[in-house]
Amino acid sequence: MILAIETSCDETCAAVATSDGRLLSSIVASQVADHAAFGGVVPEIASRRHLDLVGAVVAEAIAVAGIAEASIARVAVTAGPGLIGALLVGVSFAKGYAYARGLPLIAIDHLHGHVASLTLAEEPPAGAHLVLLASGGHTLLIDVAADGTCTTIARSMDDAAGEAFDKGARLLGLGYPGGPALAELATHGSTARRSFTTPLAGRDDLAFSFSGLKTALSLAVQRLAAGDEQGRADLAAAYQEAIVDHLVERASLGLRQTGRSTLGLAGGVAANGCLRARLETVPARLVLAPLDVCGDNAAMIAMAALNRQALDRGSFLRLDAYARSPLG
Ligand code: KG4
Ligand code: ZN
Repeated sequence: MILAIETSCDETCAAVATSDGRLLSSIVASQVADHAAFGGVVPEIASRRHLDLVGAVVAEAIAVAGIAEASIARVAVTAGPGLIGALLVGVSFAKGYAYARGLPLIAIDHLHGHVASLTLAEEPPAGAHLVLLASGGHTLLIDVAADGTCTTIARSMDDAAGEAFDKGARLLGLGYPGGPALAELATHGSTARRSFTTPLAGRDDLAFSFSGLKTALSLAVQRLAAGDEQGRADLAAAYQEAIVDHLVERASLGLRQTGRSTLGLAGGVAANGCLRARLETVPARLVLAPLDVCGDNAAMIAMAALNRQALDRGSFLRLDAYARSPLG
């Protein structure tokens, strides 16, 4: 059995899986309510909430899995990237847990975790594939070789896709987290009435960019007449459409350039219904991360740990958290 812990941002998560990859439990304690009043994640509040919650979340993951605690043979934890204080809570807890029980510890990169969330799909990718990872902190195209080696082939020049959703939502007067709220408002709008230029349209460099789009939305919001609710919904629809067009275009380009025939979609933004539907049009076998593992969770950390080398007892006490991923 493997126990996985994830505390990189504002969700305190623990999961238990068998060593052959059967998920037995996945607990996500969201801190959304703690941060909502501030319009975004407050790092110090996140760290303190992780401290309050991590013990109980791990205990719950073990209880829900219905296993004897003594059957846990390995511990995996997200070591980065993310908020350092938040990460340190999970890393310190995992070190203490593993050390006290004489277990090996596996350090997992959060982005490898999102890639591994695809193994929880009904029909996971088999062999080499391309992954579009769109989250609050990253927008990446990751080429995954047949042996699982990950290489980033495209990243954002500025904001991440989730960040673009969150900033767009703020401009439209919506709450945090912005992605789901903006997507909901967009269902009341029409892209026939409003549109934004797709970022980097017509260019064939593998990169993402969202900051120009955000500026265009900001200007359009300023021009909106007070009380024009339909206009607001139309802007949400047009903004979402431009983000989705951009992601779909770059993913298609990545498939052409790499010659891969399977595309995976993972990360918080992978929960977006418009994006999931539009990717169906891409000429590739599409693997969508299941909705319950798009956002941050420890199930994906357990999956990423399955074939990873563990740090031994002698060396894992030196494990440190890190803010930036080599994949990012
Ligand atoms: O992967 P994630 O939970 O955390 C990071 O690793 O960053 O991603 C969170 C991001 C947020 O920016 C959130 O607004 C976005 O995912 N998100 C969505 C949707 N659900 C979450 N964006 C668009 N549509 C959604 N339905
Ligand atoms: Zn994430």
